[in-house]
Amino acid sequence: MNSRVFISDDVKYIGFDDEKLTIFESQYPVEGISYNSWVIMDEKIAIMDTVDERGTEAYFKNLENALEGRKPDYLIVQHLEPDHSAGIGKLAEMYPDMKLVGTAACGRMIGQFFDMDFSGRFQAVNEGDTLSLGKHNLQFVFAPMVHWPEVMMSFDVPFGILFSADGFGTFGALANNEEWSKDGGHYYFNIVGKYGAQVQAVLKKAESLEIKMAAPLHGPVLKAEDGGLAEAVGKYKIWSSYEPELKGVFIPYASIHGNTKKAVLEFAKECEEAGMTVKTMDLTEEDVSEAVEQAFLYDRMVIAAATYDGEIFPPMNDLLHHLKIKNFQKRKVGIIENGSWAPVAGKKMKEILESMKDITVVEPIVTIKSVRKPSDDEMFTKLVESMKD
Ligand SMILES: Cc1cc2nc3c(=O)[nH]c(=O)nc-3n(C[C@H](O)[C@H](O)[C@H](O)COP(=O)(O)O)c2cc1C
Ligand SMILES: [Fe+2]
Ligand SMILES: [Fe+2]
Repeated sequence: MNSRVFISDDVKYIGFDDEKLTIFESQYPVEGISYNSWVIMDEKIAIMDTVDERGTEAYFKNLENALEGRKPDYLIVQHLEPDHSAGIGKLAEMYPDMKLVGTAACGRMIGQFFDMDFSGRFQAVNEGDTLSLGKHNLQFVFAPMVHWPEVMMSFDVPFGILFSADGFGTFGALANNEEWSKDGGHYYFNIVGKYGAQVQAVLKKAESLEIKMAAPLHGPVLKAEDGGLAEAVGKYKIWSSYEPELKGVFIPYASIHGNTKKAVLEFAKECEEAGMTVKTMDLTEEDVSEAVEQAFLYDRMVIAAATYDGEIFPPMNDLLHHLKIKNFQKRKVGIIENGSWAPVAGKKMKEILESMKDITVVEPIVTIKSVRKPSDDEMFTKLVESMKD
């Protein structure tokens, strides 16, 4: 067991560190991921969630070792997404007297995943309800849409442990020993970024709890004693408000033959010369989820794309689609388009941006016809000026 998920001798880690996984949830490039689960050994025994199908074998071994011949009384189902629920059916079969505890929404959904009769075994709890295990006492904190509607967190009151479901999680295998901050933002903006208001509601509830550590379903436990918890809470406060964390211009670009790219790199240099912090990203090389993160982090963005079959070159279209469904908002955005006979990428990008909330599109759109030329400099200089904060 990795020391970063150690909680205490009676709250034992039984999760799975998936070091080999390269793509999480069929879309996010990761260097592994952990599916965390703990079992609370007390007068009564409670298991906190299960793990992904990929880790069930290891999980059941860990569980058997941790139980030392005893039987679990409760399975706390905080989140039904299959990366945490794959073991529920088998667990329920193995321990017919074990109760399943979750929100009413969880109770309504659980039968979709497992063709089993949970009636008489599923205990629906309400916000603030408690479940005493002996020394440990779990208080349930509902967290709808962080990251599914049935989600709840569980606060072990006497010990100050917040089992935070997907909240405060991160990508990366535990074995890599990466800092939470390396992928905490990449994870947040892509997994829960859409639900800022719901994250804020949970943060507000958490303020009244004396939290010593947060134990998320992915990544290390975050502790108050070393500042790790405060760091993550501070970031979540900014991120969930859709306020930028960084000052600067993020410039993602989608170029087929490289001329848009050349123009963008020149423009980026000009922005830097004008005193701005700039981050460029080639959307044909980087995963769109990386661009989603940067778009949310920076306070300004300039998007650049070639025209493609009367449309936006798809890597940029994909980014804009992601930003829209992730609730991207409150930003100033400049546009650069390229085309050889009938450039329309700019107009189409503008239309998508205007369908988002509180986006200020910088006019005019900069158009290059195939290759940037000295006669285009004036347009670019104007865009540099407009992007100053
Ligand atoms: C498959 C394909 C479709 C294209 N469709 C259009 C188009 O509809 N309108 C247009 O003006 N240019 C179109 N172009 C031309 C490119 O947008 C143009 O050459 C641009 O300068 C390419 O920039 P790049 O060097 O950054 O890839 C198309 C190019 C390709 C390869
Ligand atoms: Fe999830
Ligand atoms: Fe998850």
